[in-house]
Amino acid sequence: MVKPCSLVKPCHLVKPVSAGRLAGRYLSHQRGLPGLPVPPLQQTCQRYITALEPIVEADELKRTRSLLEEFQRAGGLGERLQRGLEKRAQGSENWLSDWWVQVAYLEYRMPVVVHSSPGLVLPRMDFTDQQGQIKFAAKLIAGVLDFKTMIDNETLPVEFLGGKPLCMNQYYEVLSSCRIPGLKRDSVVNHAKSPAPPKHITVVHNFQFFVLDVYHSDGSPLTADQLRVQLEKICRASAPAGARPLGILTTQHRDSWGKTYQLLMQDETNRASVSAIQRSIFTLCLDPARPQTSGDSYRSAAAVQMLHGGGSGGNSGNRWFDKTLQFIVGEDGTCGANYEHAPAEGPPIVALIDHVVEYTRKPEPERRHSASLPTPQKLHFNITAEVQRDIEEAERSMDTLAQDLDMRVMVFGHFGKNVPKSHKMSPDAFVQMALQLAYYRMYQHCCATYESASLRMFRRGRTDTIRSASSASAAFVKAFDGPRTQVCVQKADLLKKAVAAHRSYTNMAISGQAIDRHLLGLKLQALEEKLSVPEVFTDAAYAKALHYRLSTSQVPSKTDCVMCFGPVVPNGYGVCYNPMDDHINFAVSSFNSCQDTDSARMARAVEAALLDMKTLLDQTPQAKL
Ligand code: COA
Repeated sequence: MVKPCSLVKPCHLVKPVSAGRLAGRYLSHQRGLPGLPVPPLQQTCQRYITALEPIVEADELKRTRSLLEEFQRAGGLGERLQRGLEKRAQGSENWLSDWWVQVAYLEYRMPVVVHSSPGLVLPRMDFTDQQGQIKFAAKLIAGVLDFKTMIDNETLPVEFLGGKPLCMNQYYEVLSSCRIPGLKRDSVVNHAKSPAPPKHITVVHNFQFFVLDVYHSDGSPLTADQLRVQLEKICRASAPAGARPLGILTTQHRDSWGKTYQLLMQDETNRASVSAIQRSIFTLCLDPARPQTSGDSYRSAAAVQMLHGGGSGGNSGNRWFDKTLQFIVGEDGTCGANYEHAPAEGPPIVALIDHVVEYTRKPEPERRHSASLPTPQKLHFNITAEVQRDIEEAERSMDTLAQDLDMRVMVFGHFGKNVPKSHKMSPDAFVQMALQLAYYRMYQHCCATYESASLRMFRRGRTDTIRSASSASAAFVKAFDGPRTQVCVQKADLLKKAVAAHRSYTNMAISGQAIDRHLLGLKLQALEEKLSVPEVFTDAAYAKALHYRLSTSQVPSKTDCVMCFGPVVPNGYGVCYNPMDDHINFAVSSFNSCQDTDSARMARAVEAALLDMKTLLDQTPQAKL
């Protein structure tokens, strides 16, 4: 069960490493990090073949093998591209990251909503009216500003993974930044680095946007009490009647939004208002109450509210989805966030949110400020008939997408990380094997599976792919429900081997030796050198390898929450999970328009797989493993 906020295990506010500013600390830490390596060509080709084995047919594998032989030939194209990548690595902070941000995010033209930006569902908060909503939202803002002080002062404690320090750059990219739509490619602006960094947030209520200054002229942040008074003024000034849901334009296909954006920005008032949103530290969305639900139904509805807002009849217009960070607080205690993915991955966002949630539980520190504060400024827009038509079009498209998304949040309450750990297995690998088993039981084959692996051990590192479908996982899932003659010890041994293979792939990925970003780099290097794309990348097996019917990610947190995202292919699932000590939160998504997929069925299959795997281990004497 997701427990109410006050019952979750105590977590502790991130403590700054120093009370004062430590100018230059960030840069000196970053300079000490290694650069992302370019893996050896032969190693990637060999590992690529191994990764294809469980997901392609024998004849496809044979063809790919011969294409790879040609690609790796001494003096051939592979060597040339590899040299190009190695040169690029010498001359840049990170040979991959800028390419990756362009290809994976800024040139990706599908709506950011559902297709790219994750949502985050927090435990339901303890209020049910607007007064409670405003009081909580005021503390939330104060909590973000408290975290921001550590970013501004460069006093954020450095994080570690497997004993190695991590790149902290993403923390510097999430506040005061925003995506800007373009006609073929978007961009991201980060105003935190400007000579006059922003001192305001934007608040949206009943589709109406406001600028809320959150610092006094002496640089001190407003207290939670002062923020509460300011939010009350905003709510009074934004009655529901008549406002047009301009924010829904940000849910559009990026090319369409890019065109409308140009129209919108022809007007001076609009330019000033849009710029105020883009420059703001973050956006706070104050939503009305939703219909009463409870348990997993409540959490699934909350996930929808965080992921896309529920369509034009809901809150999709009460957002600015280009904004890197949006906090969402509903009048009924629903609470969470949505973030635009280009600047950062989930873990830094979750670390910030963990801090904020913990901050909201503490008594407000005593601070006196008698200044009377000006009323927050409402942002005005002049909407032409053409833009109005685009708003209506965006409403229709958003409604279609909202109806298509099948989202299920499931709290697996039988056990958490404790069980795999007691069997000396990696909990993440254990969950991934449960996903493999669940999928195999539903479809009788293995599919290309994506799990994000952090590359933050390297300077400005983002992610690579852990390919969870391996030969070892295939052997395990095929044997699991296989002939009765196969005894428990054999099945448990196959599970153990599959978990070990997954953990070994994870280690390879986080140390920059996985295959997917390297293969992408080789392909992009060919394009950069204006060469024709090598056949290995136009091969059917490569397309199959990239068609991720399971797109998964672990996003752990101290708070009992879960992140959620949409599937990456029309006939696939998006699965995000947060393994806590004694339970696991899952968010499973798919599209209703696909006859073959069903999120609730997949969630049940995952639950059954986890339980059956535990039973298997319980029945198998440890000594035999
Ligand atoms: N026996 C006992 N305990 C074990 C174990 C074993 N064989 N293997 C691992 N554990 C323990 C670990 O010590 C750790 O302990 P903790 O709970 O005290 O921290 C815990 O189990 C979790 O380890 P594991 O389940 O193996 O996962 P991980 O924390 O190493 O995470 C990834 C694996 C892939 C999720 C992580 O490396 C990663 O890359 N995360 C970032 C993903 C990301 O960016 N996602 C967002 C995309 S938007």
